[in-house]
Amino acid sequence: MKNLIKVLSVLFSAGFLFTACEGPMGPPGKDANESCKQCHNSAGIDSVKTMFELSKHAYGEAAFGESGSSGCAPCHTSEGFKNVVANKVSTVFTIVAPATTYSNPYASAPDKSYGEMRCSMCHAKLHTTYTHDDFMPLTTTAAVPMTFFGGAKTIDLPQDDSKSNLCIKCHQPRPFTRSFGDKNVIDYTALVSSPTTVFFDGNSPNSTANINTIKPAYRTHTHYGTVGAIYAGIGGVEFGAGYTNSQHTTVASCEDCHMAPVTGRTGGHTFFAKGNFNGCNVAGCHLANPISSSTSSVYWAATRTEIKTLLNSLAAKLTIGGVDILNRNPVSAENSFVNYDYNFDGTAEDVLAGANLWAGLTTNNYDGYLNIYDPITNPLGSSYNTKVFQNPAPSSSWNAAQIANNLTLPKMVLTNAQFGAIINFQLCLREYSLGIHNTKYVRTLLTNSLAVLP
Ligand code: HEC
Ligand code: HEC
Ligand code: HEC
Ligand code: HEC
Ligand code: HEC
Repeated sequence: MKNLIKVLSVLFSAGFLFTACEGPMGPPGKDANESCKQCHNSAGIDSVKTMFELSKHAYGEAAFGESGSSGCAPCHTSEGFKNVVANKVSTVFTIVAPATTYSNPYASAPDKSYGEMRCSMCHAKLHTTYTHDDFMPLTTTAAVPMTFFGGAKTIDLPQDDSKSNLCIKCHQPRPFTRSFGDKNVIDYTALVSSPTTVFFDGNSPNSTANINTIKPAYRTHTHYGTVGAIYAGIGGVEFGAGYTNSQHTTVASCEDCHMAPVTGRTGGHTFFAKGNFNGCNVAGCHLANPISSSTSSVYWAATRTEIKTLLNSLAAKLTIGGVDILNRNPVSAENSFVNYDYNFDGTAEDVLAGANLWAGLTTNNYDGYLNIYDPITNPLGSSYNTKVFQNPAPSSSWNAAQIANNLTLPKMVLTNAQFGAIINFQLCLREYSLGIHNTKYVRTLLTNSLAVLP
């Protein structure tokens, strides 16, 4: 990135001014052409575009899939993102009459909920001055009121011109909401203050004895982008004491590691950190004792092994009567079909098994979902886990065999402590880096979760 910035800066400071340009197609004539070429050339944005093709922002399919869904579009589409930024859309749950229960306002306008992720998503000023200034400022670097807490807590990382806030606006977990009563965000602090209270009782799944409850399903989860919360050290269910953050939280930015000089298919505008240590080994950081994956460095191998062990131990404690509460899924390749008789008609069908983005991070390949039967979303359930839990909310679309199968399965009963530990497991698994983002916070969250479970 630094080299490209230099190339562009030299061109612009050398006196190429583009005030003559009037629009994307520019005025006709040689001058306009020349001005366009300052950016539109192989060393300029063309090379960035080539890198960006390797970014999951570009090749991932979620932008296409979630276009049209205004609740998903703020983080999955370019127009949706720019729309919530421009309108400063709130994350504070509200009661909108005539409704009498809370809803989540964090959504983009229905006519702006679309668009593949492109340059203009983060560089919203492109083609305004036709100078290098068009790349900055970024679409947003403002503090991020977290949707996970219904806006009650805010992340703000000021280092490196607050550029991390751009990433965290999307790479943050989503809220858990109550199944009954006011349907507000659950009270996470109650999970800590009353750890032995029953959070959910599968024997009476519609009981509202505890209003702070969720009827669990296979997909009861924090969503995928947990990095922002873990990185900032804000967002876990903080049992016990001793929470501190590693240096990264205050000295590094997402860009430092994820947009470091390109190596292989990582760094720069690929946004991948995997296998790229260029961002670590710079002056002021780890230059003196360089980090690489092949060394037994305390900052890499040892940290990751320690956190992997903690995740394994927590998963082992998150069981009821020997049955895993957490779902296993060894499928790491996308679009993998598995042969399984999911409708119990005696013939195996080709079932599309969702890939586990975190396969390999734990020994049993947990994916952060819950081990609850569902013939549609989790048909494989018991083929990966030794046993699967009963679904407390069977759908009217199930066939008789599926309904009967569900009734043979054990019921899930969860305490507040168990549910809080599940959230912490999801957050720490799905931050991907096995503690590199914020070792101290992840270590304490997992250690204290283990301590609170019997
Ligand atoms: C300051 C840098 C810069 C300058 C100067 C510039 N562009 Fe661009 N232009 C960009 C960027 C960045 C993109 C986005 C690339 C993409 O998404 O493929 C872009 C995209 C485009 C596109 C494709 C739009 C689309 O949606 O596919 C056209 C056409 C274009 N520019 C024309 C011009 C013309 C004509 C000029 C000169 C009048 C010009 N640009 C000057 C940076 C610049
Ligand atoms: C508008 C929301 C948004 C912004 C802003 C954003 N991302 Fe993303 N990012 C996503 C989404 C959504 C995906 C997954 C896309 C898919 O799977 O189709 C993703 C994917 C990624 C991936 C690949 C993850 C994987 O599973 O392999 C990395 C790495 C990443 N982003 C880093 C960053 C960094 C660093 C920044 C800030 C410079 C950033 N992102 C800004 C939404 C965003
Ligand atoms: C607060 C931001 C945010 C919202 C809102 C959001 N997502 Fe996401 N989602 C993300 C991020 C960030 C990722 C990528 C995380 C990663 O790979 O590290 C992601 C990943 C995904 C993936 C996995 C893509 C893959 O690579 O396999 C799916 C599917 C998905 N989201 C669906 C949805 C749906 C459906 C909604 C609306 C109901 C939604 N998301 C709302 C931020 C969000
Ligand atoms: C997910 C957000 C995101 C997307 C999408 C994105 N960029 Fe960037 N871009 C950034 C960030 C963040 C920086 C600052 C990097 C740094 O601090 O090292 C940057 C820096 C740049 C710079 C250097 C600007 C300067 O003044 O230093 C250029 C040029 C650039 N991007 C071009 C592009 C082009 C062209 C595309 C599309 C192919 C694109 N970007 C897509 C986030 C993004
Ligand atoms: C100190 C360096 C560092 C910083 C700063 C950093 N990351 Fe990472 N990130 C990593 C490493 C290392 C991995 C794991 C790579 C691997 O598994 O080999 C990773 C993994 C990820 C992934 C999964 C895809 C991938 O690249 O492997 C996402 C998404 C991600 N980080 C987002 C972010 C966001 C968002 C921020 C800022 C809030 C951030 N990271 C800050 C080092 C960093």
